[in-house]
Amino acid sequence: MTRSLIVGCGAYLPSQVLTNHELAARVDTTDEWIVERTGIRTRHIAADGELTSDLGEQAARAALASAGIDARQVDLIVLATATPDRTFPATATAVQAKLGTRQGAAFDVQAVCSGFIYALAVADNFIKAGQSRTALVIGAETFSRILDWQDRGTCVLFGDGAGAVVLRAENGACEAAATAPSNARPRGILSTHLHADGRQHDMLYVDGGPSSTQTTGHLRMKGQEVFRHAVINLAQVVEEALAANHLGAADIDWLVPHQANRRIIDYIARKLALPIEKVVLTVEQHGNTSAASVPLALDVAVRDGRIKQGDMVLMEAMGGGFTWGAALARW
Ligand code: COA
Repeated sequence: MTRSLIVGCGAYLPSQVLTNHELAARVDTTDEWIVERTGIRTRHIAADGELTSDLGEQAARAALASAGIDARQVDLIVLATATPDRTFPATATAVQAKLGTRQGAAFDVQAVCSGFIYALAVADNFIKAGQSRTALVIGAETFSRILDWQDRGTCVLFGDGAGAVVLRAENGACEAAATAPSNARPRGILSTHLHADGRQHDMLYVDGGPSSTQTTGHLRMKGQEVFRHAVINLAQVVEEALAANHLGAADIDWLVPHQANRRIIDYIARKLALPIEKVVLTVEQHGNTSAASVPLALDVAVRDGRIKQGDMVLMEAMGGGFTWGAALARW
């Protein structure tokens, strides 16, 4: 059995930081409202001319460096984004060119805020199928470019950034019994779980696009509906991931959730009876960076020494579509 080891991670945040107080000078909002309803205090904003592929390249370089892997070894780049540089070609190919490589496949995955979990599942399945040995999985976004800066209900929530992981095929890792204790399980991605319900696609969407309006459009959201579905869907998919691996919440060392809203994260932690100390939180500093949020959070917790080799890490996300998913990995 071939499995995917996560052998490195990296992240990149644009240097400009936008605070709630600065936002309050632009739209009718307050720092107190944003903190109380979302937990967000700051977000990063890409500079003029700084592209999603630039953010993705920096995150990819950091991930490759932490893995000690040369870009020329990468035979697959899967980049999750809802804010590509261009309608086509894929932003993944721009990152490939910036990394100076030309081997293997490179393509984008579009599942909005669930994009990183979707991209991780795609790359994991390429590796399991024997079609890739070394994969770069990137989540990169410049949501600041698709926000309606007059709409206080959405413009306060999102930020820009990128995160990446390197997966490497590990052959012949012995299978532990399904009921073995969590610390006896092999390292690597244990399972991924993806869902979509396209009936809800107008709950969170961009009101533009090449085949509809020929404009880029702006993000539109029914916030309360998204919130309601997020808590239900995320609670379901984390339970599904645990059950599929015969594990309980007590076996989880770190929950690395999509960083959309502190109240959604708190709800999932409570539902799992997981102490909040076991949850990696970056929403306060990064806001919602869509497909970048989970790998950004992974990178923070790996670099500050919280996530260590052998730890059981549960990742989850939910986004427009709706799409949602979870991935369980032994680091
Ligand atoms: N500042 C101040 N007031 C605001 C505001 C802001 N930034 N945004 C909305 N409001 C106001 C609304 O206009 C409304 O005022 P009204 O009662 O006078 O009409 C009031 O606050 C309540 O609005 P509501 O939308 O019901 O607030 P809420 O408690 O649902 O919080 C969200 C709004 C967006 C924070 C919340 O719905 C949410 O987080 N939803 C999920 C969003 C999400 O995670 N999206 C990404 C998923 S990947």
